[in-house]
Amino acid sequence: MQLLFDELAKKNGSQLFHIEEKIMIDSIPNIQIELKEIFQQLAEDSSWVFEELTQKDTSYATHGFHKYPAKFIPQLAKRCIEENTSSNDLVCDPFMGCGTTLIESLISGRRAVGVDINPVAYLISKVKTTPINPEKLNTEVNKVLSDLNLYFDFNNKQKVLSKIKILPILPINERIEYWFPDKKLREDLSIILGRIDTIEGKDIRDFCLCAFSNILKNASIWLMKSIKPTRDLNKKIDSPIKLFSRQIKKMIRGNESYWNVLPTYIKSDLKSYLNLRKADARNLPAKDNSISLIVTSPPYVTSYEYADLHQLTALWFEYTKSVNEFREGFIGSVHKKEFDHNGIKSKLAKQEIEELNKKSKKEAEAVKNYFFEMQQCFEEMYRVLKPKGRACIVIGNTELRKVSILNAEVFAEIMLNLGFKMHKIIKRRIPSKVLPQTRDSKTGRFTATEDADRLAYAYEYILIMEKL
Ligand SMILES: C[S@@+](CC[C@H](N)C(=O)[O-])C[C@H]1O[C@@H](n2cnc3c(N)ncnc32)[C@H](O)[C@@H]1O
Repeated sequence: MQLLFDELAKKNGSQLFHIEEKIMIDSIPNIQIELKEIFQQLAEDSSWVFEELTQKDTSYATHGFHKYPAKFIPQLAKRCIEENTSSNDLVCDPFMGCGTTLIESLISGRRAVGVDINPVAYLISKVKTTPINPEKLNTEVNKVLSDLNLYFDFNNKQKVLSKIKILPILPINERIEYWFPDKKLREDLSIILGRIDTIEGKDIRDFCLCAFSNILKNASIWLMKSIKPTRDLNKKIDSPIKLFSRQIKKMIRGNESYWNVLPTYIKSDLKSYLNLRKADARNLPAKDNSISLIVTSPPYVTSYEYADLHQLTALWFEYTKSVNEFREGFIGSVHKKEFDHNGIKSKLAKQEIEELNKKSKKEAEAVKNYFFEMQQCFEEMYRVLKPKGRACIVIGNTELRKVSILNAEVFAEIMLNLGFKMHKIIKRRIPSKVLPQTRDSKTGRFTATEDADRLAYAYEYILIMEKL
């Protein structure tokens, strides 16, 4: 590695150099060639693999509350936070997903700010970062479960309903019937949602909504493990009340362990330590030069359609009436957008787009949009970071129509051109148990099905870039 950098430094005169142990690369016209070489020569850093961790380790505290595609493991976020910040520093995740970075920031005594365009991500992150007094939570949830058990165990449902004052909530939407064709099942879910709606405290109500959201895939005919919305008409479905009770009891245990590890001064003054929004990564709720560290894993292009994957929750909670409309604003989505792309600050990106354009105009357009929108996000990151503040970007490369899409190299090139310095690149192998291992050859999407013919990312990178 050292040799490679020295070699490159020689080739580029003083454009590549070392300061202390850190490697700094200046923004130079042909940087993508050197960047490609640097990435190709990088050795895996096994200390970032975390292979020994079990599912229990990675879902400790509130981390296991809700499934979320492509979430990173808490231990990775924790290490980025602890190696790059001190107590009370402000850490940001502009693509917070289900809140991994934020939870770890708070547990480590840092302040946290996070946004995500996805309202489902906002709900999950809010619930996972908000500790609830375990006794209070137990009492309230027991009341909910006992009312629901009363309803589901007795024959005279109307009598029970009027006694416990539940108004069923069932949004009128044909997509709900599409995913939940069994009328009785829809009614059972509407009773659970109706009872949740009567909970007075917002934190406990949101806690129960999060549990409800996480059982929807199991309670529908959604083909489990599929990352494309697919129906499984032969699926055996457990009763919703069974699924809900199991889920909520698991979450109660998680809340208690989160309550126990969170510093007391943060628990008693959460508002001063945490700022979450459903917002766009290009418009962060943070002042210029205010953030010490960004730890994030951005969306991928045409891989996961988060809007599609969270449609069941979005439909039940009426975040949207149409899945297509729900896709708006999501970066990496195939949703149509019009941009002037001349400003993409990466030659490598342009080469890849040109190459892909020969195979599929639509996908080339999606990649163009993606890099352009990611560049806007990096500009926003630059604005909010303090001088010498760092951004840890966790990203893997991919392939579409047999064209390599080198996200990590392109991101590095764009960020260097925006004025960041490179502090470090870490190459980590992704343990096989963590990510779906295959991609659909036509669409490039991750898939767990057997018709997939391509290995997904075996490695990913952590780009650690520093604002000058
Ligand atoms: C790879 S996931 C992040 C997962 C996260 N690291 C975690 O551990 O849960 C990428 C996220 O980017 C979000 N996203 C997509 N477009 C966005 C935008 N314009 N602004 C903010 N978030 C966006 C998606 O909703 C998704 O949650």
